[in-house]
Amino acid sequence: KSGDGANDDADVAAAETAHGASDVLASFDIHAPELPQAIADAALRSGGFPYDDKLSSKVYRRELRGLQIELLKLATWVRQSGERLVVVFEGRDGAGKGGAITRFTQHLNPRSVRIVALPRPSNVEAGQWYFQRYVSELPSAGEIVLFDRSWYNRAGVEPVMGFCSPEQTERFLNEAPVLEKLWTNDGIRLIKILLTIGPEMQMARLHAREHDPLKHWKLSPIDYEAIPRFDAYSRAFDRMIEHTSTPHAPWTVIRGNDKLRARLAVIRHVLTATPYTDRDDSVIGKEDRGVVLSAKRFLC
Ligand code: ADP
Ligand code: MLT
Repeated sequence: KSGDGANDDADVAAAETAHGASDVLASFDIHAPELPQAIADAALRSGGFPYDDKLSSKVYRRELRGLQIELLKLATWVRQSGERLVVVFEGRDGAGKGGAITRFTQHLNPRSVRIVALPRPSNVEAGQWYFQRYVSELPSAGEIVLFDRSWYNRAGVEPVMGFCSPEQTERFLNEAPVLEKLWTNDGIRLIKILLTIGPEMQMARLHAREHDPLKHWKLSPIDYEAIPRFDAYSRAFDRMIEHTSTPHAPWTVIRGNDKLRARLAVIRHVLTATPYTDRDDSVIGKEDRGVVLSAKRFLC
């Protein structure tokens, strides 16, 4: 590409708002001991994140406490009224699904909340109806179930990594909304959250995962493929949201470059979307439009 510097800058900016990773990919090596400074500097704003600073931990701790108290009320309501609540967490490797789920469940009674993080399908499961092993994890009366990844693997990691055929993904995109309609008709509440991060932020997090002994266990062979496939994942997630965000089970996209803001936004969103009793709206507060996007805003 030729042209003057100003145009090149504009191109880079355009690629970044389109969640493009190709420009920075060349300078990234997960095995190098140091993360390039340019990647570290760009991480927070990458992928169109609108804030220049992370939330202070003081504000975070105060808000988290209030929201976790509301979550206890929500869990009590679910238990006492026999509700069934499902929250799906999706997103690229390093998006912060696990961290958000940990804060969500931190102060809840383990009897009222269950985390489902299924491994890759076994041979037996691979021979079953695709949805079967997920259906059997759905909540019974009084239960909250959090899915750390879900049946949506067939819209994201499976097609991107070649674990399923394009036809299987097409079928999935058509069938998931139909199936979810049956569940919500039966009274299950379904909240679907996609955590998004920009390319430099993913590089920074996976690099830390490679080099920090406390995080190394999280690093899987699939993570090494995530960065070169950043744009393929972006396209897959766009299609997923386009085809499977429905009035009965809409997607909400939460920008996750600032983990602290994202964790608060996740809990606040679930509280906002659920009509539990004894709620304190002044504690819940307003959703942050810089971080929380409807499917429609995400796609446009
Ligand atoms: P996580 O990011 O959830 O810790 P991985 O990065 O190892 O886990 O894998 C991402 C997802 O891909 C997981 O949900 C895993 O079950 C799924 N997966 C891994 N290998 C396969 C496979 N061969 N076929 C289908 N799904 C797979
Ligand atoms: C992820 O999003 O990759 C995992 O859930 C782990 C995390 O970042 O907490």
